[in-house]
Amino acid sequence: MANIAIFASGTGTNARKIIEYFKENANIHVALVVSNKATAPVLDMADAFGIEKMVISRQRFYETEELLQALKQRDINFIVLAGFLWLIPEYLVRAYDKRMVNIHPALLPKYGGKGMYGMHVHRAVKAAGEAVSGITIHYVDERYDEGSAIFQASCPISPDDEPEDIARKVQQLEHQHFARVIEKLAGQLEENNTIE
Ligand code: GRF
Repeated sequence: MANIAIFASGTGTNARKIIEYFKENANIHVALVVSNKATAPVLDMADAFGIEKMVISRQRFYETEELLQALKQRDINFIVLAGFLWLIPEYLVRAYDKRMVNIHPALLPKYGGKGMYGMHVHRAVKAAGEAVSGITIHYVDERYDEGSAIFQASCPISPDDEPEDIARKVQQLEHQHFARVIEKLAGQLEENNTIE
């Protein structure tokens, strides 16, 4: 049984797609939505699906291991970052080694790292005159967007595409692939039985 916690800071369109995708799944369950923003729309979305939500403060996140205890109490064995803007602290990276993934709206290693999120990414891709962009799903380590890549998908960019057009094309890839990649990884969890 894979028990997933989704960490998100914003709208949560990816979180919604993932929750909907696993709604009827007997082996993979989204058990918790964690946010660093009490006003994040993703929390209302969690409510709408009857999924437990949790808001974490910077102090508790970085100076205690309370969240790790809360995750363990809920048998969470897989963490999905879906638009979570804080760097993950060492204790959590270690506890969820190869069991925590992030999605980045660009073809890493380009256009990644601190400050490279949301429209900043698509503006940089546009400014560089790239002919393609896309998504990268990767394991999470202590540095932004540097964990080993698991999956990438790309989309063509035409010269008259504005950053908003790039964002739309990239979001379509996110919604098309993220849940399926998670399903594959969570399935491997079952096989490897790496759940402590
Ligand atoms: C997505 O662009 C994702 O790639 C990035 O954060 C954004 C989250 O969007 N990590 P949403 O809140 O899921 O709509």
